[in-house]
Amino acid sequence: MKLTGNTVFITGGGSGIGRGIAEALHNLGNKVIISGRRKNLLEEVTKANPGMRSLELDLENPSSIAFVSQTLIERYPDLNVVFNNAGIMEFDDAAAILDENLLTSTITTNLLGPIRMTSALIEHLKKQNEAAVLYTTSWLAFTPFALTAVYCATKAAMHSYALSQRYMLRGTSVRVIEIVPPWTQTDMLNSTKEPRAMPLQEFLNETMRLLGTDTDEVVVEGAKRVRNNAGPNEHPYVIEFNNWLSGV
Ligand SMILES: NC(=O)c1ccc[n+]([C@@H]2O[C@H](COP(=O)([O-])OP(=O)(O)OC[C@H]3O[C@@H](n4cnc5c(N)ncnc54)[C@H](OP(=O)(O)O)[C@@H]3O)[C@@H](O)[C@H]2O)c1
Repeated sequence: MKLTGNTVFITGGGSGIGRGIAEALHNLGNKVIISGRRKNLLEEVTKANPGMRSLELDLENPSSIAFVSQTLIERYPDLNVVFNNAGIMEFDDAAAILDENLLTSTITTNLLGPIRMTSALIEHLKKQNEAAVLYTTSWLAFTPFALTAVYCATKAAMHSYALSQRYMLRGTSVRVIEIVPPWTQTDMLNSTKEPRAMPLQEFLNETMRLLGTDTDEVVVEGAKRVRNNAGPNEHPYVIEFNNWLSGV
């Protein structure tokens, strides 16, 4: 996608991958609006990046999505990139009774939230000369980590939704782009110092380079094996991958 001259709204821009991409786009001269629930984080990031703006958002709350999307359209009529990056990840046990709160909050935040957000802004995006909807899914959309089964299911569903939306938007000004991170050193699952995870800055450098191409799917080199495993013979590697993640 074009990496300059955009007005970009990004969810989860107060931390981790979202913050990194928001800052990279800001430094390239794009107008960037970050969002999330934690006001203190949003203020910290906008203060560190003069000109960047923020809006408080709770993706679990449809009224918050409606309010933020309306505010975006009124305040930033040039908005042409909606980046659904926010997400939550918690351990679960698909072999036992699931915690109802974990189930609903994960599906609401990771799947319903981005779908509602994009739906609220899609007619606005279609009026722009060049527009894009981005989703941060995960390599776990393609090869699941069994200890986070609900999370992986939301990311697989998001990938599927992105494929359908890309097809439906063919011939319009709106592109649909998926970012498929590997395990990356962020706060997610307390991974900032995890040696098996990709250092955040390395992930951001490779991702921004790929994002600047015409690819629909941004997959860093280290995520390719896991992304490309899905298919009729996927089971042996699902086991090998889960053993590696679980330290077996
Ligand atoms: N790190 C990895 O290993 C990895 C790998 C593959 C994919 N991903 C995906 O990358 C994305 C970013 O994650 P990250 O690694 O950068 O972790 P992170 O630092 O924890 O970022 C997650 C962001 O989502 C926001 N968020 C969570 N719930 C929200 C809600 N209800 N409403 C609005 N915002 C909400 C959080 O902000 P608030 O808490 O302030 O709301 C936070 O800024 C996620 O979609 C994640 O699934 C991460």
